[in-house]
Amino acid sequence: MNISPEIIEEIKFRNNIENVVSTYITLKRAGSNFNGSCPFHSEKTPSFTVFPSTQSFYCFGCGAGGDAITFVMRMENLDYVSAIRLLAERSGIKLPEDSIRNDGRKEVGRQRVLEMNKAALEFFKKSLWDENTGKIARDYLINKRKLSPAVINHFQLGFAPNSFGALHDHLKKLGYSDEEMIVGFLCGKSNKTGGAFDYFRNRVIFPIIDVTGNVVAFGGRVMDDSMPKYLNTSDTPAFKKSKNLFALNFAKNHCEKMLVLCEGYMDVIALHASGFENAVATLGTAITSEQARIFSRYTKKVVISYDSDEAGQRAADKAFKLLQEVGIDVKILKMDNAKDPDEFIKKNGPNKFASLLESSKTRFEFECDKALSKYDINNINDKIKASKDLCEQIAKYPSEVERELYSRKLSKLLDIPVDSILRDVNSIIRKNTYKDKKTEVNELYRKASGIGDRINPESVANIKANKAEEAILGLMMLKGEHLKACTEKLSVDSFITPLSKRIFEKISQAYKEYGKFDIGFIEGDFTLDEISRITRMQSERGRLSINDENVLNEYIDILSSEKQKSMDSDTFDSILDAIKNKKK
Ligand code: UTP
Ligand code: MN
Repeated sequence: MNISPEIIEEIKFRNNIENVVSTYITLKRAGSNFNGSCPFHSEKTPSFTVFPSTQSFYCFGCGAGGDAITFVMRMENLDYVSAIRLLAERSGIKLPEDSIRNDGRKEVGRQRVLEMNKAALEFFKKSLWDENTGKIARDYLINKRKLSPAVINHFQLGFAPNSFGALHDHLKKLGYSDEEMIVGFLCGKSNKTGGAFDYFRNRVIFPIIDVTGNVVAFGGRVMDDSMPKYLNTSDTPAFKKSKNLFALNFAKNHCEKMLVLCEGYMDVIALHASGFENAVATLGTAITSEQARIFSRYTKKVVISYDSDEAGQRAADKAFKLLQEVGIDVKILKMDNAKDPDEFIKKNGPNKFASLLESSKTRFEFECDKALSKYDINNINDKIKASKDLCEQIAKYPSEVERELYSRKLSKLLDIPVDSILRDVNSIIRKNTYKDKKTEVNELYRKASGIGDRINPESVANIKANKAEEAILGLMMLKGEHLKACTEKLSVDSFITPLSKRIFEKISQAYKEYGKFDIGFIEGDFTLDEISRITRMQSERGRLSINDENVLNEYIDILSSEKQKSMDSDTFDSILDAIKNKKK
């Protein structure tokens, strides 16, 4: 892989990190930097920092870091080259084809898959509205599922004809290769011939469109009771299931008050058709923490409107937890006489659904209902169990006011004095705090002693040396003079831990070749975790205002004396070995 430094610089110049990051999350200015809620882990207080001066980001909470390129790699789940392509496209830079070589083989990029998906969607739509081919599907959607042509067009529903090669042949004519169709998940690969065959056959098609309007994936439903009911696109260079929501492209314009989370495509479509344009669904999987964070970027309140069966209610429980963790006000909606929102609206009409939304319940009310259905509170033992379960729930609320209010509710519900309940709640909190403290202390201890440094395991046995190494490398990346001085004074052998050796090697190589350094030049050679570590070195040095020559020289001295020690002990070990061997 070889991307010229000019192109990387151009891309980074045109995509400054503040702008790139703020297309995904909200940033607030904090001095010369910016803060925001980290998109890579769940947090309530923002520890994610963007440093315009070094054009980098670092999260003090989870340790993720890098530059605009790595940010996009993480956000969009892309490899290095695809991230560069994406940023180039967004800023209108044309990449010369030969500027990117990837081990001699042209990989199927995100953009190519998106183009192909768009062509496939046109094909599916055309098939649906084709007099003959599409009759059976139109019959299903319009007559059986009661969708109007307007709604069908709004969601761009389509039809994959009952053929192993119709889409394949169509895409082939447009210049797409079998490999591209397979990687893009529009075709499967035949075990026998190795050729490509249409993946979606005889199914109505639901395109998944992201918030920028790209056709990223498809869901395909059978029109009878055969199995599997739905087929979905697996992860491709343009799509990750766990990071997308169905209909967010529409709902994003109706989400100020709240979003409604459903289980199924059909539920979402029925809701939109009835005027609830804030409905979205996950894509055939339980909600992930990544999706919870997407919700928190778009809205403050979510009403979970899952199927009323047991599976749906269990899934709701999980969604509750994940959404609450990212600070969303979560409510749950209960339907009595229908299995899902689609059926409910058909039976009872939109107004009834609106009142269900109004009367949706808080987590605590939901938990109370659950306990009441699980336990018989006229039985003493059951009542104790119910009280215990619900006290555990109350203990989870960080606000004392909330705990007080819920305790009063519980007191009424179970007819137990509120003081007893509050005492139980507090004792649970004390126990939990003790547990949290203990894990926190263990964590700190682990960090302080460097135990289990996954990214640079050797740092554990060389704490002092590694600190000096990181400082030196950080200073090199921060200041041109330091970069020059260090590449002259030091060599790979001056370093002790393997990761530091590699970083130094790449930095000095880049400097020798291009006469300067940018983290973008070396990113392709490191993993995302390693890039995070490299950014930490840089941002920790950047935070200290003293980064002068003396500081650098002190660290160089420390490193060289540590190196001497480690060599001495190596020699000592080998002398010892020699003596032992002689004795034998
Ligand atoms: P449902 O079975 O509730 O589907 O699954 P639905 O959308 O309500 O469809 P209808 O009304 O029966 O036609 C909920 C969601 O789970 C995923 C789909 O995303 C579906 O919308 N799913 C379900 C699959 O991915 N594969 C399956 O085989 C079934
Ligand atoms: Mn359903």
